Amino acid sequence: MRTEMLPASDPAAVRLAAEVIRNGGLVAFPTETVYGLGCDALNPEAVARVFEVKQRPSFDPLIVHIGALSSLDRLVHAFNPGEHRLMDAFWPGPLTLVLRKRENVPDLVTAGLPTVAIRMPAHPVAQALIREAGVPIAAPSANPFSYVSPTTAEHVWQALGDRIDLILDGGPCPIGLESTIVSMVGDQPELLRPGALPLSDIEAIIGSLVCRGGSDRRPPVPGRLARHYATRTPLTILPARGARPLRTGERAGLLAMSDPVSRNGYAFVEVLSSSGHLPEVARNLFAALRKLDALGLDRLYAEPCEEQGLGLAIMDRLRRCAATIQSEEPSL
Ligand code: TXA
Ligand code: MG
Repeated sequence: MRTEMLPASDPAAVRLAAEVIRNGGLVAFPTETVYGLGCDALNPEAVARVFEVKQRPSFDPLIVHIGALSSLDRLVHAFNPGEHRLMDAFWPGPLTLVLRKRENVPDLVTAGLPTVAIRMPAHPVAQALIREAGVPIAAPSANPFSYVSPTTAEHVWQALGDRIDLILDGGPCPIGLESTIVSMVGDQPELLRPGALPLSDIEAIIGSLVCRGGSDRRPPVPGRLARHYATRTPLTILPARGARPLRTGERAGLLAMSDPVSRNGYAFVEVLSSSGHLPEVARNLFAALRKLDALGLDRLYAEPCEEQGLGLAIMDRLRRCAATIQSEEPSL
């Protein structure tokens, strides 16, 4: 199959993409977080193709993207005041809520769970696509399972270019990190995945969240699997900014949070933000990881950042990228 890549600024391209979705096809499209691989959420055959193309295990449920609150009624059961407040405050935006699903959401979308993850993206292209398609759009990040999420149409093209129907090119994603996922179905709201919306913003609206963390959750949440968002080149997080590579004799790349103290010892350095500004770090993170990963280096080192605000999600992604067999790790 030859995938078409069309500019999202052309309304005819968005109309065509909506038609592809309505006909059971697969369209990669930009959101404010990362590119999604979308299909009609209510069409089980289309959903099955998304799993196949991504080589995603069937126990990993998808997020359903909606364009308006009025679509919620047919997807989930009545929601409570806390959920209302979060939707009011953060939708459209990078917050995904796990809610109790209705029967017409296919089991394949939710991996058989009685819950469904819902998000209302803010990106104008995502909004236009959902509106034109007239159906909710199930979309995981548009990358092969467990690899780094795509933040440009090029990233999608490189990995999935021959396996999907259409790519809408809307330029680089403005945030660059996946949405924050909060489950609203337990006794207390629970953070399932730190993401683009800082935890403190959510807690300011509904009070403190349960944060269990770890990768031993049941049912498993693949965004929480130890090794996810991973480069092929092994990655090690440095104990502090400015640290030298931990092994000698290897060709190493450095992922620097800000202009590095020293480039000595590194074959290649990617600076995420010259001033260390976290939104800029987030925006550049996945593209920089891909760039370093393509250089055939022996090892990548990443500087740490403070785990506050966006820093929580940035360090979460770096740790998951770094998670590997213990014996491969140089001792810190
Ligand atoms: O920013 C984002 O969230 C992007 C854009 C495209 O919207 N999407 C994204 O999707 O990151 P994906 O499939 O890569 O990650 C979705 C995560 C998965 O780890 C999945 O396990 C979790 O959401 N999830 C989905 N439905 C769930 C449910 N019912 N209960 C718990 N976790 C769920
Ligand atoms: Mg993903």
